[in-house]
Parts: sequence; structure tokens; C-alpha cells
Amino acid sequence: MSVASRAYALGSLAQVPDPGSRGFDIDTGDERPLRVFVVHKNGAISAFYNRCPHTGAPLEWQPHQFLDIENSFIQCAIHGALFRPEDGYCLRGPCAGQALQQIMVRVDDAGQLVAELPVHPGASVPDQ
Ligand code: FES
Repeated sequence: MSVASRAYALGSLAQVPDPGSRGFDIDTGDERPLRVFVVHKNGAISAFYNRCPHTGAPLEWQPHQFLDIENSFIQCAIHGALFRPEDGYCLRGPCAGQALQQIMVRVDDAGQLVAELPVHPGASVPDQ
């Protein structure tokens, strides 16, 4: 069974350096925006909800800075957990073996990042 999704424009891919990352707030019409971030590395992009599986805290340690100092891994600012940029799997830290919740993201013909979220994202998105 396929899940219906809705597209949300995030911004331009040019806003996300390679290697680098950027956070975005998605207005879904709910009370609070969904906080997500995009990672751009070696020409590949990936996106995740901005929520650490350890405590639910936001991950960035400076505005839009989700990667470690070497731009190798996503690093949680609170307790330093390290996550693979390609799939959000936690390699080291208090949530090792868990993973960030990944979201579908693509780049359209105009170079804009577009997130594809389930039609009822609140049903599958952790509290933020
Ligand atoms: S809150 Fe992210 S590692 Fe603890």
C-alpha cells in the first residue's frame, strides 16, 4: 500500500554548502512548524527531522551546523552522538544503534529542495 505524500518547498540547494548542512522549518498548517535539516555531502543530499533519538533535542550546535568539525558525521550538540549522513544511523553515543528519522527530499528542475512528507505528517512525526 502506498502512502500519500505532500511536497513542501524548503529553499534552494545553493543555500546548503557541500559539505554542509542547513535547517529548515516547514509550515504544515499545524501549531508549530516541523523542524528538519538537509545534509549535502559529496554531491548527495539527505534530510531528517531535527530531533535526536536520545532525548528529542534539536541537534545543531550552531545555527545550521549539524555536521561535526570535519564535516564527516552529523553530530548532536547535547551529548555528541555521531550519525551517518546518508541514513542517520547512530554510530557512536548514547543512542548508538538507533537512527534519526529520515525524510524524502529531492531537488527540482529549478534547484529547489523539496521535501515529501506523508499527508498526515503528525501521525508519523515525533513531538518536536
Ligand atoms: S540528546 Fe543527542 S546525544 Fe543526547
